Formats: sequence, C-alpha cells, structure tokens
Amino acid sequence: MEAMKKSFLIALSNTIVVLLLAGSSTVVQACTPYDRAALLEFRSKLNEPYIGVFNTWKGQDCCNGWYGVSCDPNTHRVAGITLRGESEDPIFQRAKRSVLMTGSISPAICKLTSLSTIIIADWKGISGVIPNCITNLLFLRIVDLVGNRLSGVIPANIGRLQRLKVLNFADNQITGMIPTSVTSLTSLSHLDLRNNNITGVIPLDIGRLTMMSRLLLTGNKISGHIPESLTRIYRLADIELAMNRITGSIPASLGKMSVLATLNLDGNLISGEIPGTLMASSISNLNLSGNLITGKIPNTFGVRSYFTVLDLSKNRLQGPIPASITTASFIGHLDVSHNHLCGKIPTGSTFDRLEATSFAYNDCLCGKPLGNCRK
Ligand SMILES: *[C@@H]1O[C@H](CO)[C@@H](O)[C@H](O)[C@H]1NC(C)=O
Ligand SMILES: *[C@@H]1O[C@H](CO)[C@@H](O)[C@H](O)[C@H]1NC(C)=O
Repeated sequence: MEAMKKSFLIALSNTIVVLLLAGSSTVVQACTPYDRAALLEFRSKLNEPYIGVFNTWKGQDCCNGWYGVSCDPNTHRVAGITLRGESEDPIFQRAKRSVLMTGSISPAICKLTSLSTIIIADWKGISGVIPNCITNLLFLRIVDLVGNRLSGVIPANIGRLQRLKVLNFADNQITGMIPTSVTSLTSLSHLDLRNNNITGVIPLDIGRLTMMSRLLLTGNKISGHIPESLTRIYRLADIELAMNRITGSIPASLGKMSVLATLNLDGNLISGEIPGTLMASSISNLNLSGNLITGKIPNTFGVRSYFTVLDLSKNRLQGPIPASITTASFIGHLDVSHNHLCGKIPTGSTFDRLEATSFAYNDCLCGKPLGNCRK
C-alpha cells in the first residue's frame, strides 16, 4: 500500500514537472528580446498620435497582441509588419486625417532578419529614405510602402531579394532610376512604382521577370523606348506606363501577348504608327491618348476585338475610322477626338451609343453623331 502510494506520488510529481515544462515552453515562445528591441527602435522613429496603433506595443511578448506584428509559429521570430493607414476599422474612420503618421522608417527594421512581409502603407506622412539595409532581409516576399512621402532612391542592390513577389513604392517621392538589379528579381509578380519622380529608362532586359503580371510605372519621368523584351513576359496582364516621357514606337509584339488586358501608354512622347496587332488582341483597356502617333487607325478589328476603353485621342492620326471597327465584339468607351481623321463615321450598334465628343476636333469626320456628310 505504502509502495503504491509512493509510486502514485512519483507519477503525480512527474506529471507536474511535465506540466511545468510545458508551461515554461509557452514562455519561451514569446518573441526574442532582440526582435522586441528592434521593433521598439523602429517604433521610436514614428509618430502616430490619432489612432494609437502603437499603444498595443507593450509587454514582453511582441508576438502576442502587438498591432500589425506577426511571428513565425515555429521560430517565434518576427515575420511580418503590417501597418496600413487605410482600414475599415471604425477607429481609422474616426481619425479622418489626411496625414496619419509621420516620422521615418528606421534602419532598425533590418535587425528583424526573418521578415517576409513589410507593409507600411497609406500613412501619407512617413518621410525619409527607404533604408538600404532592407536588401539584407533575404526572406522578404512583400515590400509595400505605398502612399507615404518617402524620398531618395530605390536601393541599388534590391535584386538580392530573390524571394520578392510584390514591390510597391507607389505614391511617394522617390527619385533616381529603376536599379538594373531589379531584373534579377525573378519571383516578382507585381512591380508598382506609380506616381513618383523616377527618371531613366525601363531596363532593357526587363523580360527576365517571367513571373510578372503587373508592371505599373505611370506618373514618373521615365524616358527611352518600351523594351521589346517586355513582350516575352507571357503572364503580363497589366502594363501601365502612362504620364512619362517614353519615346519610340509601340512594339507590334505587344498585341500578341496572350493575357495582356490593360495597356496604358497615354501622356508620353510615343511616335510611329499603331501596330495592327493591337486592334484584335487580348487587350480590353487601351489608352494611347496624348502621344505623337501618326498614320491610320489599323483596319484590323475583328470578333476578337473587345474594348471597355479604346482611347486614341490627342494624337496625329489621319485617314478614316476603319470599316472593320463595326465587327468588334464590344467597344464601351471610344475616343478618337483631337486627331486629323476624315471621312464618314461607320454605322452600327457600337456607334449608336457614342456621343459627338468621342469624334470632336478632327479634320473632316462626318455622319452620326456628328453632322451629315456632304454629298
Ligand atoms: C517631383 O519633383 C518635382 C520637382 O523636381 C516636385 O515639384 C514634385 O512635387 C515631385 N513629385 C513627386 C510626386 O514627388
Ligand atoms: C486616357 O488617358 C488620358 C490622358 O492620361 C486621360 O485623360 C483619359 O481619361 C484616359 N481615358 C480613359 C477612357 O480613361
């Protein structure tokens, strides 16, 4: 009896030891003091007085309840910082400020060597430069700093980030060129640098980015030609290069791309003629407005032609609106105004809905919805 009691007690105490160990291992699961210190150093350079997102950044365990911080469940290292200034959360709605956070992105962020996601987006007031040292964070898959006031250049050796899928620096004040090393980012699917002050050319070998589906460079000061290599990226669905200083002609092979849906080249210095391939391509949103394009509108429309937007306005186009345009499956919004077109506007269901403004300011277009043609 005594012996049984003793062995029961031993078993019980073993269980307690196991439970204690289990308990202490959950304490071990807290974030490392090193990561925690790096986060606090990162936070010290930012100022967000309206919402108080950083009020939650207290206590020892940064993996638990710190707003926007996520940790790897196995290593308990900080894996993600996700701080968005635009949120459905009512607390954001109530703040209603145009600038929600100021300060800068501290290089201390580079101490978080397991980071795979950095999203510090739409705070409108974060300034300073993008720390160069982020190119040491080799696990990064998403870097999204859209909608701040970041200046300076894109780190030259950004190409080191071989796992990068999303690179979004749009709506900032970034200057300098697109680093040539960008073309080593072979996992990249989404490159968004819209509305900055980026100069220089699109790297000639951009075609190496075979995973890319969206290339968004609208609203910069990019010059040079549209690289032919771009048209080899068969996943590309969205090419937005509007409002830049791009010269040269439109590569005909753009019209052969299998999933290209949006091609916005408006507001550049593009010359030459419109390649016939574009009119019967997979493109449904085509804006070539405000360039120096000459020649005729290609007479290559067909049943494959399906345009939600076809804007050819403000160029130097001549000749008639081609007859084949009436064979298009759909043309939602057509604008050929401000050119040198001449001749009778084709009739057909597509054209019944269109207003005179779509055809205004040409040399001698006539017929509905403009005035009658002279006999
Ligand atoms: C670009 O630079 C010009 C002056 O060089 C400045 O006026 C403008 O605000 C800048 N634009 C952006 C988006 O930063
Ligand atoms: C095409 O681009 C021009 C110039 O950027 C712009 O004003 C126009 O609204 C665009 N067209 C459409 C239909 O979005």
